Amino acid sequence: MARAVQAARRAAPAATNDPFTADVVAGLVAKPKSLPPKYFYDLAGSALFDRITQLPEYYPTRSEIGILQANAPAIASLFPQNCALVEFGGGTSRKARILLGAAATVEAYVPVDISGDFLQQDAAQLRRDFPRVEVYPLVEDFTKPFALPAAIAALPRVGFFPGSTVGNFEPHEACKFLRHAGTMLGDAALFVIGVDLVKDSKILYDAYNDAEGVTAKFNLNLLARINRELGANFNLGAFEHHAFYNTARNRIEMHLASTRRQKVRVNGATVDFRAGETIHTENSYKYTIDSFQALARGSGWTPLKVWTDGLFSVHALVNKTTEDR
Ligand code: TRP
Repeated sequence: MARAVQAARRAAPAATNDPFTADVVAGLVAKPKSLPPKYFYDLAGSALFDRITQLPEYYPTRSEIGILQANAPAIASLFPQNCALVEFGGGTSRKARILLGAAATVEAYVPVDISGDFLQQDAAQLRRDFPRVEVYPLVEDFTKPFALPAAIAALPRVGFFPGSTVGNFEPHEACKFLRHAGTMLGDAALFVIGVDLVKDSKILYDAYNDAEGVTAKFNLNLLARINRELGANFNLGAFEHHAFYNTARNRIEMHLASTRRQKVRVNGATVDFRAGETIHTENSYKYTIDSFQALARGSGWTPLKVWTDGLFSVHALVNKTTEDR
C-alpha cells in the first residue's frame, strides 16, 4: 500500500463498524445535532433512571403502579386462559409482577430487553416468587422482529408495554411499533400499554427538571459514557441539561446545551458547537386518552378499556384479526 494512502487512512476517523460509534458520530455531525436515547441505559444510566422513578416530581412511575394495583383484577380478567405475558423492554419486572400476582392464567412470562444483565438476575427471582410461571428472558431489541420461545408458540399472548416508553417514539414510529407488536403477538392478542397524559405544563416541566438534578445527571451521563467508551473529550462542565414542554407538539424535549463555543473530539472527528447549540437527546410525547386511542386504531388495534388517575393512563387494546386490517 502506498505511504500516502496509509497516512490518509490513519488520519481518517477510526473504523465505525461499532453501531454505538457510528450512531454517535452520525448524530453529532447532523444538523440539528441529536443522539439516540437508547444509549442512556448503561450501568450508570440505568441506576440514575431508577432514581428518577423515585423522585417526588417524577409522577409517571408512581401513577402507573397505582393504576395497575388498583385495577389488577379487572386487567387480569381480560387475559385469555393459559396465556403468555410478553413484556417489551422488561428490564425490571416491577410492574409485570402486579399483573402476574392477579392473573392466575399466565403460564409464561417473556421479558424482552436489550440489556441482558438485569434480565437474568430478575428471572431467577421471578421463578422463586411465581413458581407456576415459566420465565423466558430474551435479550433482543424489541423494536425489531425476534423469535419468541418455542415453548410459548401455542399459547395466546398478552403484550405489556409500560412506562410510557411508547411516548419516546415519534408518533409515526409508535404506529410502526404497534403494528410490529401486533404481528409478534398474533391475532386477537391483548396489549396492555402505559401512556402518559397531556396535562398542566408546570407538572410536566417539573417531572423532567427535578430539584435534586438527577434527571440532569442522567442526561449528562450520555456524554460521560461517550467519553468513557469512545475516548471522546466532552467537557461535562460546559454542557447543561435543558428540558421543556413543547406545547405545539405535546412533547417534553430533552437537550444537552453547550454553554459556550467549543470543539469536541469524537473518534477522530472534530465537532464544533456554537454557544447555546444543543444536542437533542430525547422526546417524551404526551397523549390524551382519545389521541392515543386514535393512534392505536390507526395501527391495527381496537381500544377495549382504559384506566386512569387523571395523570397517567393504562390502555387495554385488542389486535384486530388480519382480515380487518
Ligand atoms: N419513558 C419515560 C418518559 O419519557 C421514561 C424516561 C425515558 C425518562 N427517558 C427519560 C424520564 C429521561 C426522565 C428522563 O418519561
